[in-house]
Amino acid sequence: MKNKLWGGRFKKSQDPEFEDFSCSMYFDYRLAEYDALGSIAHAKMLGKCGIIPKKDAAAIVKGLTAISKEIEAGKFIYDFTAEDIHTNIQNALEKKIGKPALKLHTARSRNDQVALDTRMYCKNKAQEMYGLVTALQESLLGFAKKNKDVIVPGLTHTQHAQPVLLSDHIEAYVWMLARDKRKLHYAYHAADFMPLGACALAGTSLKIDRKYTARELGFGALCENTMDAVSDRDFVIELLEAVSLVSMHLSRLASDLILWASPEFGFVEIDQQFCTGSSIMPQKVNPDFLELTRGMSGRIYGNLFSVLTMMKGLPLTYNRDMQWDKQPLFDSVEKISKVLSVYGKLVKGIKVNKANIDRALLDESLYATDLAEYLVSKGLDSRQAHSIIGKLVTATLEKKERISGLTIKELKKFSEKFEKGVFKLLDPKVSVASRKKGR
Ligand code: ARG
Repeated sequence: MKNKLWGGRFKKSQDPEFEDFSCSMYFDYRLAEYDALGSIAHAKMLGKCGIIPKKDAAAIVKGLTAISKEIEAGKFIYDFTAEDIHTNIQNALEKKIGKPALKLHTARSRNDQVALDTRMYCKNKAQEMYGLVTALQESLLGFAKKNKDVIVPGLTHTQHAQPVLLSDHIEAYVWMLARDKRKLHYAYHAADFMPLGACALAGTSLKIDRKYTARELGFGALCENTMDAVSDRDFVIELLEAVSLVSMHLSRLASDLILWASPEFGFVEIDQQFCTGSSIMPQKVNPDFLELTRGMSGRIYGNLFSVLTMMKGLPLTYNRDMQWDKQPLFDSVEKISKVLSVYGKLVKGIKVNKANIDRALLDESLYATDLAEYLVSKGLDSRQAHSIIGKLVTATLEKKERISGLTIKELKKFSEKFEKGVFKLLDPKVSVASRKKGR
């Protein structure tokens, strides 16, 4: 059994097609840096506890440190014929330092090893994504600030509702992202339990020091139950949940921007750097980044459901099924990270078309609620006020008139309570100013 960590029991080598199917190298090579760091800490612990000779531990640490540097520099030569990244690094270490390498896997199984690597990956990526979300929040806040006086028609049911500040619309997304950061923070902590020492499932009779390993690797706590330690992938699911929410929010922002960039709205222009053209229609500049981002949420939710479904029927403890957690995890993390980073640049480059927005604000139905509240302030109950303004809007629409074009006498036909000052309300600035935040 060439290059395998488990050949002794086998009389036959693997069917080549199965071997290829079983191999996880082409995706789990992404765990290389964590695998090397985890093994360095493990070897130090074995040496410190006297389980392996100190000089062997030192040789292992030296060899793995060199490997780790190669990985970091992109110089490590991956062996895509190895069964997985753990086997690859073990074999590379053997090549580098010879016999002492054979002692590294003492008091360890790939079951706790892969749990460790995946947890380290999740912790690192949760932090990285937290930073990327913060950067996008900053871009959004910059855009909101740059356009702080811009008022747009606010929509419900994609119909004109009331005038709102563009900055409030954009800041709604900043709040969504703030909640996403909390989820990423939880996901980080879900992963922050150190599984090594659980070995295959039941721990080891060797006198290891798990706390030492956890400290070396910067883990906040230990997985207390060895069977849970090797069979738990909740932390993967929690990170995928957090990423799903980020993706949902980015998808909604994409929808808003696509709508606003459409010729019917024309409120904003998306920089051409984030658009593509058509192979047949010469005039087209399509907001493809935003569409790709919106469509991607389907894939991101799929990744979450893929892991949830893969896990649901598994008896304890480790099962090879669990190898299928990795591609969905890597895919979601890599895709969302790219999107977060491009999004920030796109937001910075959005141009606002004030003339088109002002034209949309000429629709006086946007002030209907302000007019109804005016009547309420004059003593009508809200039901009466609502009905009067409803009739006023219908009448002006039918006669193709503007409310601002009516005389006070004409207005009084709808309600005696109307006075001259009411016309001031038909103004986006007055409307927005009347609804001060935090009241
Ligand atoms: N590639 C495996 C995974 O991702 C690594 C652990 C394999 N363990 C085992 N006992 N075969 O889960």
